[in-house]
Amino acid sequence: MKQKAIYPGTFDPFTNGHLDVLERALNIFEEVVVVIAENIQKHALFTVEERLIMTKQVTGKYPGVCVKVLHKGLLADYARQVGARAIVRGVRQVKDFEYEFQMSLLNRQLYPEVTTVFLMPNVKYTYVASSIIKEVAILGGDVSKFVHPCVLEMMHKKREEYNQKQL
Ligand code: PNS
Repeated sequence: MKQKAIYPGTFDPFTNGHLDVLERALNIFEEVVVVIAENIQKHALFTVEERLIMTKQVTGKYPGVCVKVLHKGLLADYARQVGARAIVRGVRQVKDFEYEFQMSLLNRQLYPEVTTVFLMPNVKYTYVASSIIKEVAILGGDVSKFVHPCVLEMMHKKREEYNQKQL
């Protein structure tokens, strides 16, 4: 039986750290659905449509991957609907753990057949987070090591918009 996993996140934007986790997930699962979802605790820089375009471009070369948007509702319900028994999450540091632990157990409560699989990215990405990458990029720093060229281009556009607003 083909094993399907979902890899959810805000992906605002999708970084090389996310890609590293995705590649590791593809070593385990035959099919991985990257799910762009809203985190109500975060204010996104990119629209869902922009995130979808970027994430599709970054992951387009991987045959077992598709990218979807969860417009509303619970991730656990989505996992059930698409027949995924695994939720992949990347963990970089100990501080990620508390939040991940809560989400994992809540998702299990909502959908008992689902298991959250935590994967650690390459150590070179342990300090890479979308939030800090966005901040550095918007303020004019070089983040080309941390994101795909198409993401870099979109961030440069956001920087121009930001600079225009400051004038
Ligand atoms: O990249 P993030 O912000 O850490 O991802 C968090 C995300 C989007 C996976 C989480 O907020 C989520 O699952 N959102 C969908 C709505 C939902 O099911 N919330 C309850 C989670 S227990």
